[in-house]
Amino acid sequence: MNIVTVKDYTALSEKAARFVADRVNGKKELVLGLPTGSTPEGMYAKLVKLYREQKVDFSEVVSFNLDEYCGLRSDHPQSYHYYMNRNFFDHVNISEENRHIPIHSEYYEDESCSRYDQLIDRAGGIDLQVLGIGTNGHIAFNEPADYLIGGTHLVQLSEKTIEANSRFFNSRAEVPRRAITMGMATIMHAAEILLLAAGKNKARAIEKACSGVITTQLPASLLQLHNNCTLLLDREAASLL
Ligand code: PGA
Repeated sequence: MNIVTVKDYTALSEKAARFVADRVNGKKELVLGLPTGSTPEGMYAKLVKLYREQKVDFSEVVSFNLDEYCGLRSDHPQSYHYYMNRNFFDHVNISEENRHIPIHSEYYEDESCSRYDQLIDRAGGIDLQVLGIGTNGHIAFNEPADYLIGGTHLVQLSEKTIEANSRFFNSRAEVPRRAITMGMATIMHAAEILLLAAGKNKARAIEKACSGVITTQLPASLLQLHNNCTLLLDREAASLL
């Protein structure tokens, strides 16, 4: 893994945006895997700025988001559909038919998962996957467990993730208990991975993800098996390395 450390969150957001813009400018029809969460918000803001300055053009980009809650309408302010529109899609020129976010269908659960993987395959596979990391080392909604699932699937969120995400909702009870997520195989098949982590509360997960031990109890540790993975960290997230 390549580890790049920058001084703070602003520098991390700037560097992440330039990294993504370079890849977008370097390949027509780039297939871009996108994360949500508080960490990439700064990157999206800088990418929008680069787009407005005509330094990057997303017109041929095909995007696939990592995950989405089950049971929230796409116009719910905490849904990842809403997040992506507000932070990114409403401000750049990725065409609507080229944006993909997994959608949970109560009636066609298995089909909605396998169809998402088929769409990624048909697009030619992910060229660059941007990731965040949970304080428990989760990647997307692949939570620490005795085993992990390869393809896109439905998950029960861990108590730690429900707790962490409750800050975005009025109460803990409102946090959805299930989500649809790309699996670790889908993520690991990306040609290149860029993981972003900022803040002291991520330091322990980053330390474990880089430790040389690979365990499903810390899904991010699997990234050590990827041959083109960059961890972009601020000083606090890197403080235990
Ligand atoms: P955060 O979430 O960016 O809001 O810390 C990251 C994640 O849980 O993957």
